[in-house]
Amino acid sequence: MTVGFEENLMRAVTWHGRGDVRVDTVPDPRIEEPTDVVVEITSTGICGSDLHLIDVLSPFMTEGDVMGHEPMGVVREVGSDVTAVKPGDRVVIPFNVSCGTCWMCAEGLFSQCETTQNRDAGTGASLFGYTKLYGQIPGGQAEYLRVPFGNTLPIKVPAGLPDDRFVYLSDVLPTAWQAVQYAGVPQGGTLLVLGLGPIGDMSTRIAQHLGVERVWGADVVPDRLRRARDHDVETIDTTKQKEVVAAIRDATDGRGPDAVIDAVGMEAHGSPFASAAQKATALVPDAIMERVMTVAGIDRLAALNTALEAVRRGGTVSLSGVYGGATDPLPLMRMFDKQIQLRMGQANVWRWVPDILPMLVEGDPLGVDEFATHRVPLEDAKRAYADFRQKRNGTVKVLLQP
Ligand SMILES: NC(=O)c1ccc[n+]([C@@H]2O[C@H](COP(=O)([O-])OP(=O)(O)OC[C@H]3O[C@@H](n4cnc5c(N)ncnc54)[C@H](O)[C@@H]3O)[C@@H](O)[C@H]2O)c1
Ligand SMILES: [Zn+2]
Ligand SMILES: [Zn+2]
Repeated sequence: MTVGFEENLMRAVTWHGRGDVRVDTVPDPRIEEPTDVVVEITSTGICGSDLHLIDVLSPFMTEGDVMGHEPMGVVREVGSDVTAVKPGDRVVIPFNVSCGTCWMCAEGLFSQCETTQNRDAGTGASLFGYTKLYGQIPGGQAEYLRVPFGNTLPIKVPAGLPDDRFVYLSDVLPTAWQAVQYAGVPQGGTLLVLGLGPIGDMSTRIAQHLGVERVWGADVVPDRLRRARDHDVETIDTTKQKEVVAAIRDATDGRGPDAVIDAVGMEAHGSPFASAAQKATALVPDAIMERVMTVAGIDRLAALNTALEAVRRGGTVSLSGVYGGATDPLPLMRMFDKQIQLRMGQANVWRWVPDILPMLVEGDPLGVDEFATHRVPLEDAKRAYADFRQKRNGTVKVLLQP
């Protein structure tokens, strides 16, 4: 809360360059359209996607951009046309900025919303706090957030339970839920999850909850492996393609799992060319890098290649890790020969809310109440980002609490 001469200012996490986020004082958001609402944020996550923004997607950011797309809080102000929520309501805000009423939204493809699609950039629906490719909408790692589509976008949640129970509806839960749905594991089937960050970890929990009998997870970060083992995931303690593939083949009669979820994305380790290209981008002016990224891309496909190699013939690869770039080569001959199905995309948050929310109101079968490893004041964001990026101090999921 701000007072006195600062009453129109708030604190927010802002982007300043590669690996450089700060907590700055910026103008408060205001109602701009009659359907807007302003939400006072109480909890807001840091996501693996935020790491892309301070690394490989830096060329698409502008100094001062407000970060964050996993917020929840309390409605403080509503525009004149808003009837679905009122001041005092508790809400979670999806990371997709979706209208809820267009053709795509009606199809459940909220991340392709035709009202907020970025046609100039050639990309899908706008996202909170996510680059000029996705609308450059100020994000939710802040004291207040302006939310458009106040009648359809906010997810109303009941009072009485901690924020932790609901905050992951903004991203982690629907993303992991979609990853498992897209993986389409058959009855009695098997699933390998690459990457045991928040998204991979939650994907293993949801898969188990939905009845997948055997779930493996691969990563190298000891506390992430331990978390997965704690809920009966069989872990593979390596990210090297050869070793992961050998381990999972051994465990599945030489065949490979029915499905693989790639919950890694562009920050994969294990791709030497990629890291060279990656370092080079730091030296190239952004205007040129933007071009290089959209027409050429940066080779960071280590995890995806592992997924394609590990999955059984005729199996499915479900990609929730975010990728960018346009010319990274895929092993198309191998993919065709193995008859692989590939599904991917940003999560369509509202598509899965009716499946997930009632479960959260009833209880905590996925362990969300204890999912966060760190709950820290917004002012500590810089350190929290650094710890999450370096995977230090047991940092898996951080909730900032403005
Ligand atoms: N599709 C969506 O809507 C959506 C939503 C949220 C996040 N994401 C993406 O999901 C991915 C994961 O997010 P997160 O928050 O869990 O991030 P994270 O960075 O914490 O997790 C990634 C994990 O992958 C591991 N890893 C790296 N290389 C690997 C490899 N070759 N094989 C196996 N594991 C490897 C890392 O050690 C890390 O633990 C990111 O790419 C993020 O952008 C997508
Ligand atoms: Zn996210
Ligand atoms: Zn729409």
